[in-house]
Amino acid sequence: MTNKEIIAAVIAHFKKEFAHDSSGHDWFHIERVWKLAKTINQTEKADEFVVELGALLHDIADHKFVADADTVAEARTITLLSNLGVEAAIIEKVLHIVANCSFKGGAKANMSDNYSMKSVEGLIVQDADRLDAIGAIGVARTFAFGGKFGNSLYDPAIAPATFNSAEEYRNNRTHTINHFYEKLLLLKDGMNTETGKRMAEKRHAYMENFLSQFYAEWNGEA
Ligand code: ADP
Ligand code: NI
Repeated sequence: MTNKEIIAAVIAHFKKEFAHDSSGHDWFHIERVWKLAKTINQTEKADEFVVELGALLHDIADHKFVADADTVAEARTITLLSNLGVEAAIIEKVLHIVANCSFKGGAKANMSDNYSMKSVEGLIVQDADRLDAIGAIGVARTFAFGGKFGNSLYDPAIAPATFNSAEEYRNNRTHTINHFYEKLLLLKDGMNTETGKRMAEKRHAYMENFLSQFYAEWNGEA
């Protein structure tokens, strides 16, 4: 199979796999991350095949929904790619991306999550995934996620929290507005690539506008 055929086969696999997701991790999230990663790579010029595979596979086992997600992600990646005849050296590179892509923690201190990602291809995929968590799409995904988990939109009495571990972050579910302070507004400063940083600035400003309009409407002032 050519690289192009392998990418097409991986796309077909995930379209089927993620068809019915409503948590914000559906096929279209994967597709947007794949497109964003390709856009970023136009200036970064890293290995295109690894970038594309990393983007397409980055959510192959979501730690929120899959127990022992790291092990499952590794096994699924190896099975999928070796069945398509992808060479071992490429599979290794994709495994590194899949293992290190997730945000996994809200606290600013945990932005060091970045530093476990060692490859340029991985840094590009991480930027693409983070971009899809912010901006207009980010707002939409976040409220969709909150609704799915039964969280309220907002409660002024419950302030945002900071977290010391991935578990603390994961187990803390308050109202959806808090998620902006616990994760989304922190992402801009953790971007890796110049293109990613530029795109994040615009999406970040959009979220800040959204929040000020939200509070104005909440208080009957707009
Ligand atoms: P990652 O997949 O990078 O580890 P998460 O799985 O924590 O990140 O989050 C992916 C997306 O799901 C977020 O960008 C957000 O839109 C949504 N999400 C996650 N946790 C929450 C939450 N507590 N409240 C609202 N939305 C959330
Ligand atoms: Ni993702």
